[in-house]
Amino acid sequence: MLLLIQNGTVINPGDQTESKADVLVEDGKIKKIAPKQKVKADRVIDAEGCYVMPGFIDMHVHLRDPGQEDKETVETASRAAVHGGFTTIVAMPNTKPAVDNSDVVYYVRNKAKDVGLVHVLQTGAVTKGQRGEELSDIESMVEAGIPAISEDGKTVMNAQLYREAMALAVKYDIPVLAHCEDATMVQGGVVNADQTMEKTKFAGISNSVEDVIVARDIMLAKDTGAALHLCHCSTKDSVRMVELAKQEGIRVTAEVCPHHFILTSEDIPGDDANYKMNPPLRTKADVEALKKGLKADVIDVIATDHAPHTAIEKGLGIKKAPFGIVGLETAAALTMTELVDKGYLTIMQMAEKMSYNPAKILDLDKGVVEEGKPADLVVFDPKKQYVIDPAEFYSKGKNTPFAGKKVKGMVMATVMDGRVVYER
Ligand code: DOR
Ligand code: ZN
Ligand code: ZN
Repeated sequence: MLLLIQNGTVINPGDQTESKADVLVEDGKIKKIAPKQKVKADRVIDAEGCYVMPGFIDMHVHLRDPGQEDKETVETASRAAVHGGFTTIVAMPNTKPAVDNSDVVYYVRNKAKDVGLVHVLQTGAVTKGQRGEELSDIESMVEAGIPAISEDGKTVMNAQLYREAMALAVKYDIPVLAHCEDATMVQGGVVNADQTMEKTKFAGISNSVEDVIVARDIMLAKDTGAALHLCHCSTKDSVRMVELAKQEGIRVTAEVCPHHFILTSEDIPGDDANYKMNPPLRTKADVEALKKGLKADVIDVIATDHAPHTAIEKGLGIKKAPFGIVGLETAAALTMTELVDKGYLTIMQMAEKMSYNPAKILDLDKGVVEEGKPADLVVFDPKKQYVIDPAEFYSKGKNTPFAGKKVKGMVMATVMDGRVVYER
């Protein structure tokens, strides 16, 4: 089966080129990239006015499967992913039960294969049951194919135990994806600790809750030589510490989520749990630092922390509702609208942060648009404008603070392993 993607502008972060060309795909691979190809293809996608980019790779997704299928399933998350232009998603281990052994890794992998829309890479929990007491069977999960370990949802508070986990990550040559939050310092906080909190009377989460663990984990990475990837950074000091660590040659990379580079705590309209996530929305100074960090390539990755919850749970209000918002179906448009269109990032940097760098960090043969490489591609129209409407999401989760926001940038088609898995 021959697929021809015609007339688009090919963005290839692999060699930093942007060129008008047709992309011919055969047997799951990119066969030829050249202008005006004359071939009889079985299927043609007209990408006039669009970018043809490497399929997006989301390093941070909550599938909720197994155990919380009322929130999301492997299938609904896969549909949401391809609608958002993602061809690979990395699943966090805080399911029920937690992904702390190879059986659960295989369960998710088999389900994802049956759905067959998107590459799903399941991470393994650092500790058994994510209880922070005893390391999980990391070796058997590595054999089952986990691309990384992570305790996402919480931090491993025992530094010595985490150091042992990092040593294993070095042994098996996989990165550690770190959710940085000092559990003892949260104290029931639900929003950022600033004036908003005084206004709304909600308990606050200070920047230091994140910062002390970012500092600790960077030191542990320095100690062990582990490749540390900091999840959903939200504070200005996180950016400073990542910059410093990189200057020192410590193996650290970092991600930021769209909600953290767009919204501040001042945007919380009242008791609306669609603005409740962990880490919380911070201040203008933090948002500016995150955007500068992205622009200067201190921050390597844009990830979503896609965290679906039911409408009933999110209707409980900020104090009682669970933390988290969905992100798979809004990330590309939000990045285009808020970063590329406003001059913070080039389109090449967007491709780096949403495909190329995640592939590098996870050691995947992806993230480029090159002949002979896997045909994981997204056709993205940077000019199409629309209003975000959660009713159009494929995800079961409709919990987003971006409903009604006018954005620019629409996913027109998603190709995974040479198959058109989404087309508008
Ligand atoms: O907002 C969040 N939601 N942050 C997390 O760390 C966990 C996630 C979830 O699982 O809902
Ligand atoms: Zn997290
Ligand atoms: Zn998360």
